[in-house]
Formats: sequence, structure tokens, C-alpha cells
Amino acid sequence: MNYSKKVMDHFAHPRNVGEMEDANAVGMVGNQKCGDIMKMMMKIENDVIVDCKFQTFGCGAAVATSSMATELVKGKTVQEALQLTNKAVMEALDGLPAVKVHCSVLAEEAIRAALVDYYKRQGIDPEPIVGCSGECTDCHHDHGHGEEEEE
Ligand code: FES
Repeated sequence: MNYSKKVMDHFAHPRNVGEMEDANAVGMVGNQKCGDIMKMMMKIENDVIVDCKFQTFGCGAAVATSSMATELVKGKTVQEALQLTNKAVMEALDGLPAVKVHCSVLAEEAIRAALVDYYKRQGIDPEPIVGCSGECTDCHHDHGHGEEEEE
């Protein structure tokens, strides 16, 4: 399998990995098929994502895509971050092997889940704002890996 230099770099040296104590937006999603879990934490001030960290119990591509995703949303507004697609993350990494595309979807979903949490904490219904990409099989806007389903 061929991974780009950027993927290898973000896998070997993930950016923004770790806990964030003062996060005010936290999202956790999982992929039922591979069992990988991704947690995104953000600090948002005046609708701007001033800091973003992640933790993942996932494959190398999950590490690389979430690392890149945190870099892409940092400094952006919530509205801009909502436009971030897994495709944009993949492009920023110079592509991913086809079998690893779902890993980048997990990164996108984790960002969205964090933003859902951000709105919920303010008493705002996130559904009309965040919506759903419809691509994720197990994301129900908050704890995506809550349901067990046998393959
Ligand atoms: Fe599950 Fe990559 S194999 S996220």
C-alpha cells in the first residue's frame, strides 16, 4: 500500500494529539466496522476555534487524517470548520489509498460531533446547523459508537 509522504509524516509526528482540559466542544465517533474510535476536543471563543486536539484509538490513516484535520480547523470559525470535508483532509494529505478513505470520514465526523457538542452546550439545536453528511453509518450526532451491530 502506498502512503504519501504527508500521511507518513502526520502518522509518525501527529500534530495536536492529547487531552484538553478546558475544551468547550468534545466529539467522539467510532466506526463499527474497524472498531476505531476518535475523539476531538476544541476550545472555541467567539465562534473561532482557537485550539483543537485529538485522541484516537485507530489505524495510522486515522491518526494522520485527524492530525491534519486539527491543523485545518485551527483558527477557523465554526462555520468554516463545518465546511471541512474528508475530501479536503485527504487532499491536504496528498491522497489516501481507497481502502483508507473511511478513516478520513471518521475525522470529518469527529469534527462535526465536536461542533454539535458546542451548540448543544449553548442550548442551541445543532441539527439545522450541522446536519449530517449521511455518509457515516453509525454517527447519530453524539455518541456514534453507542450501538452494537454485528456484521
Ligand atoms: Fe478504522 Fe482506519 S481502519 S479508521
